[in-house]
Amino acid sequence: MAGLTLDTIDILTPDLYVERGYPHEEWALLRREAPVYWYQRDNCDPFWAITKHADIITVSRQPGLFRSTQRLFVAINEPGVPPPEEALLRQLLNMNPPEHGAYRAVVSRRFTPAAVSKLAGHVQEIAAQLIEGIADREQCDFVTDVSAKLPLAVISEMFGIPRSDWEMMFRLSNAMIGATDPEYMRGGTIMEGLQQARMEFFEYFSQLVADRRKNPRDDLATALALGRVNGEEIPPFELLSYFALLIIAGNETTRNATTGGLYALMNNPDQWEKLKRDPSLNRTAAEEIIRWTSPVIQFMRVATADTELRGQKIREGDALALYYPSANRDEEVFEEPFKFDVRRHPNYHLAFGIGEHYCLGANLARLELQMIFREIAARMDCVELAGPISRMRSSFVGGIKHMPIRYKMRPKAA
Ligand code: HEM
Repeated sequence: MAGLTLDTIDILTPDLYVERGYPHEEWALLRREAPVYWYQRDNCDPFWAITKHADIITVSRQPGLFRSTQRLFVAINEPGVPPPEEALLRQLLNMNPPEHGAYRAVVSRRFTPAAVSKLAGHVQEIAAQLIEGIADREQCDFVTDVSAKLPLAVISEMFGIPRSDWEMMFRLSNAMIGATDPEYMRGGTIMEGLQQARMEFFEYFSQLVADRRKNPRDDLATALALGRVNGEEIPPFELLSYFALLIIAGNETTRNATTGGLYALMNNPDQWEKLKRDPSLNRTAAEEIIRWTSPVIQFMRVATADTELRGQKIREGDALALYYPSANRDEEVFEEPFKFDVRRHPNYHLAFGIGEHYCLGANLARLELQMIFREIAARMDCVELAGPISRMRSSFVGGIKHMPIRYKMRPKAA
């Protein structure tokens, strides 16, 4: 885009993400000219925009110096948005060591590569059912019919939540993470919508906890309900927040990676052909889709002392926003970063973060993407847009809300 300057670029206004998608040109300018940039605008509290791969690693690996706080991400000041001290949840993402590690240990063994690989058959079955579900038509909204259902089905199944309640989980999770998007808002102000969704979540999970304490099973809900931190029962607010985090964190993110992945394949037919011809590319393709789409736009840290980063003086109390999609196009790390390449290997992307808060669900998300794209490559042909896409109004988690597609199906392999 001609005429971009550091003083005038906008990487925060959510409406711009609706209109244009991710501001990759702005981030490229920042990486080139001001990789640690003091972003000061009328519509937000100032913060450092961190756009280089190496700097995000430096910051993320020092959780003592760059702490996570109640304010998870930077946002424009909009009426009704909760002030930072009014945390709606108290969960892993806004905890710090040593408390953070103790809480993470409650469920971490259920998300290791070995534990997740045991779910492969099940995830494959869900993926196959979803694609079979659109097989009797030639058009669908890929988001609502396929990609939104996948992560929700998988995590709800892990929790032991009955199918009849999956739709409600979906609605509440949308309302919490997409709070600034009018489609997901639930009336009233953004804050009221968030509080209402949290209350409904908490009521539901309280009942689930009570049930699992009486009737323990081998599921994630039981692991949390009976979980202990430093030998103590988890306090109610933290416990219910943990449930909400696990439902929400994997939902919008994996959905947007799936939708954005299909969109990327449609726009790069040569890559799609490669994947169809050689299913063994499934792993590298899923990884490239995650890099390419980078559904989490940014998380925030706060400096606990004066320090320096790339020659810039950071003061105690300054906020830093870690721009993961920018790191994932860093010319110093990736060869041809703007090329979507299903064979890319190695692929050191930071879409899941790194260090203390590295995504707990990364292995699960990878598995879900591998399975759904295996199914798509095996069954779907001639996929094209059947109408315009619409994007989420958020500069925190980005993606496509609706994607009408037209396609032809191939018969199921025997
Ligand atoms: C493509 C899909 C996904 C992406 C791009 C993604 C991205 C991220 C990122 C960037 C972070 C924070 C890293 C940081 O602050 O340093 C994170 C944390 C987290 N993610 Fe994911 N995520 C995805 C899927 C999932 C799934 C499926 C789950 C399932 C439960 C999940 C659960 C979590 C949790 C619990 C945390 C907090 C970890 C902590 O603070 O220790 N995520 N994720």
